[in-house]
Amino acid sequence: MPFIIAIDGPAASGKGTIARALADRFGFHHLDTGLLYRATGAKGGDAVAAARTLTAADLTREGLRSAEAGQAASRIAAIPEVRDALVAFQRHFAAQEPGAVLDGRDIGTVICPDAPVKLYVVASDAVRAARRAAELGADPDEMLAQLRERDLRDSQRAAAPLRPAEDAVVLDTSALSIEAAVAAAIAHVERVR
Ligand code: C5P
Repeated sequence: MPFIIAIDGPAASGKGTIARALADRFGFHHLDTGLLYRATGAKGGDAVAAARTLTAADLTREGLRSAEAGQAASRIAAIPEVRDALVAFQRHFAAQEPGAVLDGRDIGTVICPDAPVKLYVVASDAVRAARRAAELGADPDEMLAQLRERDLRDSQRAAAPLRPAEDAVVLDTSALSIEAAVAAAIAHVERVR
Protein backbone atom coordinates (compact mmCIF):
# COMPACT_ATOMS: atom_id res chain seq x y z
CA MET A 1 0.00 0.00 0.00
CA PRO A 2 1.49 3.37 -0.96
CA PHE A 3 1.83 5.90 1.84
CA ILE A 4 -0.20 9.07 1.33
CA ILE A 5 0.49 12.47 2.86
CA ALA A 6 -2.39 14.93 2.46
CA ILE A 7 -1.59 18.61 2.96
CA ASP A 8 -4.26 21.29 2.87
CA GLY A 9 -4.50 24.92 3.86
CA PRO A 10 -5.18 28.44 2.63
CA ALA A 11 -3.11 30.23 -0.02
CA ALA A 12 0.55 30.97 0.84
CA SER A 13 0.40 29.13 4.16
CA GLY A 14 3.61 27.24 3.33
CA LYS A 15 1.92 23.98 2.33
CA GLY A 16 3.62 23.79 -1.07
CA THR A 17 7.09 24.21 0.40
CA ILE A 18 6.37 21.63 3.09
CA ALA A 19 4.88 19.21 0.55
CA ARG A 20 7.96 19.41 -1.69
CA ALA A 21 10.31 18.96 1.26
CA LEU A 22 8.39 15.90 2.54
CA ALA A 23 8.38 14.31 -0.91
CA ASP A 24 12.13 14.89 -1.10
CA ARG A 25 12.81 13.54 2.36
CA PHE A 26 10.80 10.33 1.92
CA GLY A 27 11.33 9.77 -1.80
CA PHE A 28 7.62 10.19 -2.57
CA HIS A 29 5.89 11.63 -5.61
CA HIS A 30 4.49 15.15 -5.23
CA LEU A 31 1.44 16.77 -6.80
CA ASP A 32 0.56 20.44 -6.34
CA THR A 33 -3.15 20.06 -7.02
CA GLY A 34 -3.65 23.84 -7.25
CA LEU A 35 -1.90 23.60 -10.59
CA LEU A 36 -4.78 21.51 -11.96
CA TYR A 37 -7.25 24.27 -11.12
CA ARG A 38 -4.91 27.02 -12.32
CA ALA A 39 -4.38 25.21 -15.65
CA THR A 40 -8.12 24.64 -16.03
CA GLY A 41 -8.88 28.32 -15.39
CA ALA A 42 -6.10 29.44 -17.74
CA LYS A 43 -7.52 27.42 -20.65
CA GLY A 44 -10.49 29.77 -20.77
CA GLY A 45 -13.83 28.90 -22.34
CA ASP A 46 -16.00 26.17 -20.85
CA ALA A 47 -14.28 25.25 -17.57
CA VAL A 48 -15.89 21.81 -17.34
CA ALA A 49 -14.69 20.89 -20.83
CA ALA A 50 -11.26 22.34 -20.00
CA ALA A 51 -10.97 20.20 -16.86
CA ARG A 52 -12.06 17.08 -18.71
CA THR A 53 -9.44 17.54 -21.43
CA LEU A 54 -6.55 18.74 -19.27
CA THR A 55 -3.16 17.42 -20.48
CA ALA A 56 0.37 17.40 -19.05
CA ALA A 57 1.27 20.24 -21.44
CA ASP A 58 -1.44 22.44 -19.86
CA LEU A 59 0.30 22.11 -16.50
CA THR A 60 3.55 23.63 -17.75
CA ARG A 61 2.03 26.79 -19.30
CA GLU A 62 3.62 30.06 -18.38
CA GLY A 63 1.88 32.42 -15.99
CA LEU A 64 0.12 29.75 -13.93
CA ARG A 65 1.78 31.04 -10.72
CA SER A 66 0.42 34.58 -11.11
CA ALA A 67 -2.13 36.10 -8.75
CA GLU A 68 -4.59 36.42 -11.65
CA ALA A 69 -4.30 32.71 -12.43
CA GLY A 70 -4.94 32.02 -8.74
CA GLN A 71 -8.12 34.08 -8.77
CA ALA A 72 -9.33 32.45 -12.00
CA ALA A 73 -8.57 29.02 -10.50
CA SER A 74 -10.57 29.78 -7.39
CA ARG A 75 -13.60 30.82 -9.46
CA ILE A 76 -13.73 27.66 -11.59
CA ALA A 77 -12.83 25.49 -8.55
CA ALA A 78 -16.30 26.20 -7.13
CA ILE A 79 -17.96 24.33 -10.03
CA PRO A 80 -18.73 20.76 -8.88
CA GLU A 81 -18.36 19.26 -12.39
CA VAL A 82 -14.88 20.79 -12.69
CA ARG A 83 -13.85 19.20 -9.38
CA ASP A 84 -15.38 15.85 -10.37
CA ALA A 85 -13.39 15.86 -13.61
CA LEU A 86 -10.12 16.16 -11.66
CA VAL A 87 -10.72 13.53 -8.96
CA ALA A 88 -9.61 10.42 -10.88
CA PHE A 89 -6.27 11.93 -11.89
CA GLN A 90 -5.49 12.94 -8.29
CA ARG A 91 -6.45 9.55 -6.80
CA HIS A 92 -4.45 7.75 -9.45
CA PHE A 93 -1.45 9.94 -8.66
CA ALA A 94 -1.86 9.23 -4.93
CA ALA A 95 -1.78 5.49 -5.54
CA GLN A 96 1.84 5.42 -6.74
CA GLU A 97 4.45 3.43 -4.84
CA PRO A 98 6.20 4.05 -2.56
CA GLY A 99 4.04 7.02 -1.63
CA ALA A 100 2.77 10.45 -2.59
CA VAL A 101 2.36 13.90 -1.14
CA LEU A 102 -0.58 15.90 -2.46
CA ASP A 103 -1.22 19.50 -1.45
CA GLY A 104 -4.36 21.52 -2.02
CA ARG A 105 -7.64 22.39 -0.31
CA ASP A 106 -9.60 19.12 -0.18
CA ILE A 107 -6.98 16.37 -0.15
CA GLY A 108 -7.66 15.20 3.41
CA THR A 109 -11.42 15.73 3.20
CA VAL A 110 -12.35 14.51 -0.30
CA ILE A 111 -9.50 13.23 -2.48
CA CYS A 112 -7.67 10.99 0.03
CA PRO A 113 -9.88 10.74 3.14
CA ASP A 114 -7.98 7.63 4.30
CA ALA A 115 -4.51 9.20 4.14
CA PRO A 116 -2.53 8.20 7.27
CA VAL A 117 -1.00 11.68 7.48
CA LYS A 118 -3.10 14.82 7.14
CA LEU A 119 -1.59 18.21 7.76
CA TYR A 120 -3.56 21.45 7.72
CA VAL A 121 -1.04 24.25 7.29
CA VAL A 122 -2.01 27.76 8.35
CA ALA A 123 -0.30 31.13 8.87
CA SER A 124 -1.55 34.57 9.82
CA ASP A 125 -2.97 36.75 7.03
CA ALA A 126 -0.13 39.28 7.37
CA VAL A 127 2.56 36.61 7.13
CA ARG A 128 0.91 34.97 4.12
CA ALA A 129 0.53 38.31 2.32
CA ALA A 130 4.17 39.21 2.98
CA ARG A 131 5.37 35.83 1.69
CA ARG A 132 3.31 35.99 -1.47
CA ALA A 133 4.31 39.63 -2.10
CA ALA A 134 8.00 38.70 -1.83
CA GLU A 135 7.48 35.71 -4.12
CA LEU A 136 5.64 37.63 -6.84
CA GLY A 137 7.30 41.03 -6.36
CA ALA A 138 3.91 42.58 -5.58
CA ASP A 139 2.40 44.95 -3.03
CA PRO A 140 1.65 43.26 0.35
CA ASP A 141 -1.64 45.13 0.86
CA GLU A 142 -2.90 44.10 -2.55
CA MET A 143 -1.80 40.51 -1.88
CA LEU A 144 -3.61 40.57 1.46
CA ALA A 145 -6.88 41.64 -0.17
CA GLN A 146 -6.52 38.99 -2.88
CA LEU A 147 -5.67 36.19 -0.45
CA ARG A 148 -8.65 37.04 1.74
CA GLU A 149 -10.98 37.11 -1.26
CA ARG A 150 -9.69 33.75 -2.46
CA ASP A 151 -9.81 32.09 1.01
CA LEU A 152 -13.34 33.34 1.53
CA ARG A 153 -14.47 31.92 -1.82
CA ASP A 154 -12.60 28.63 -1.21
CA SER A 155 -14.01 28.14 2.29
CA GLN A 156 -17.58 29.19 1.56
CA ARG A 157 -18.24 27.20 -1.60
CA ALA A 158 -20.58 24.21 -1.32
CA ALA A 159 -18.32 21.78 -3.23
CA ALA A 160 -15.32 20.53 -1.23
CA PRO A 161 -14.78 23.73 0.76
CA LEU A 162 -11.44 24.58 2.35
CA ARG A 163 -11.50 23.17 5.89
CA PRO A 164 -9.38 20.86 8.02
CA ALA A 165 -10.33 17.17 8.02
CA GLU A 166 -11.44 16.03 11.48
CA ASP A 167 -8.28 13.98 11.86
CA ALA A 168 -5.89 16.60 10.45
CA VAL A 169 -3.02 17.97 12.50
CA VAL A 170 -2.84 21.78 12.31
CA LEU A 171 0.60 23.27 11.69
CA ASP A 172 0.84 27.06 12.15
CA THR A 173 3.88 28.35 10.26
CA SER A 174 3.41 32.06 11.16
CA ALA A 175 6.39 32.17 13.50
CA LEU A 176 8.40 29.35 11.92
CA SER A 177 11.31 29.46 9.48
CA ILE A 178 10.96 27.16 6.47
CA GLU A 179 13.48 24.80 8.09
CA ALA A 180 11.52 24.67 11.36
CA ALA A 181 8.19 24.13 9.60
CA VAL A 182 9.65 21.33 7.48
CA ALA A 183 11.27 19.73 10.54
CA ALA A 184 7.94 19.75 12.39
CA ALA A 185 6.21 18.13 9.41
CA ILE A 186 8.91 15.46 9.06
CA ALA A 187 8.70 14.68 12.78
CA HIS A 188 4.95 14.20 12.48
CA VAL A 189 5.26 11.87 9.48
CA GLU A 190 7.91 9.83 11.29
CA ARG A 191 5.66 9.43 14.31
CA VAL A 192 2.90 7.99 12.15
CA ARG A 193 5.02 5.84 9.83
O1 C5P B 1 -2.95 26.22 -4.20
P1 C5P B 1 -3.22 27.25 -5.28
O2 C5P B 1 -3.15 28.65 -4.76
O3 C5P B 1 -2.37 27.05 -6.48
O4 C5P B 1 -4.72 26.98 -5.73
C1 C5P B 1 -5.39 27.83 -6.62
C2 C5P B 1 -6.89 27.67 -6.38
O5 C5P B 1 -7.30 26.37 -6.81
C3 C5P B 1 -7.33 27.77 -4.94
O6 C5P B 1 -7.60 29.09 -4.53
C4 C5P B 1 -8.59 26.90 -4.92
O7 C5P B 1 -9.72 27.63 -5.31
C5 C5P B 1 -8.33 25.87 -5.98
N1 C5P B 1 -7.95 24.57 -5.42
C6 C5P B 1 -8.96 23.75 -4.96
N2 C5P B 1 -8.69 22.50 -4.50
C7 C5P B 1 -7.42 22.06 -4.46
C8 C5P B 1 -6.36 22.90 -4.89
C9 C5P B 1 -6.67 24.17 -5.36
O8 C5P B 1 -10.12 24.13 -4.97
N3 C5P B 1 -7.18 20.81 -4.03
